[in-house]
Amino acid sequence: MGITVRPIGRIQGGTVRLHKRWTKALDGIEGFSHLIVLFWLHEAHRPSLKIHPKGVKQIPKIGYLATRTPHRANPIGVTVVRLFKRRGSILFVEGLDAWDGTPVLDVKPYTKKDSIRRLRMPGWVSLLDKAETDPLRKYVSGNDSGLARRATTEI
Ligand SMILES: C[S@@+](CC[C@H](N)C(=O)[O-])C[C@H]1O[C@@H](n2cnc3c(N)ncnc32)[C@H](O)[C@@H]1O
Repeated sequence: MGITVRPIGRIQGGTVRLHKRWTKALDGIEGFSHLIVLFWLHEAHRPSLKIHPKGVKQIPKIGYLATRTPHRANPIGVTVVRLFKRRGSILFVEGLDAWDGTPVLDVKPYTKKDSIRRLRMPGWVSLLDKAETDPLRKYVSGNDSGLARRATTEI
């Protein structure tokens, strides 16, 4: 089955810029503080079935569908962003993790139904999150032999 997806705009400098013909379709979106943005990770490459999350060798390989890698069979990205303001067909947002020029596929309001109170995640997720905010990046930069063990046991 072939599916054709047409971008409705692009990411540019912290904004979601929709084609002008979609301007009216945004009417009412200002009422929402947060949006879900779906985009096409156009510079992604073919996926490997199993990968080290974020390329961190100390974490054992897992299936790519159990990760947020951009390299996927269908490289669709999804990010929740905060909406500051809208000017015509341009949305000024915070929290985008897509590069400039990335084609935008869809925009949806984020509602309470989208938030889950009790999440279960493997330990490696919080270790990588911690490493991202840790200025020393001690969990991923050195030879941290305990990382793999903690990544699989910390839940
Ligand atoms: C891990 S992906 C995930 C994006 C989205 N939050 C998700 O979970 O689907 C985000 C990373 O993809 C990479 N990236 C951003 N824009 C891209 C693009 N257009 N093509 C390929 N990779 C991209 C950047 O390295 C960015 O940090």
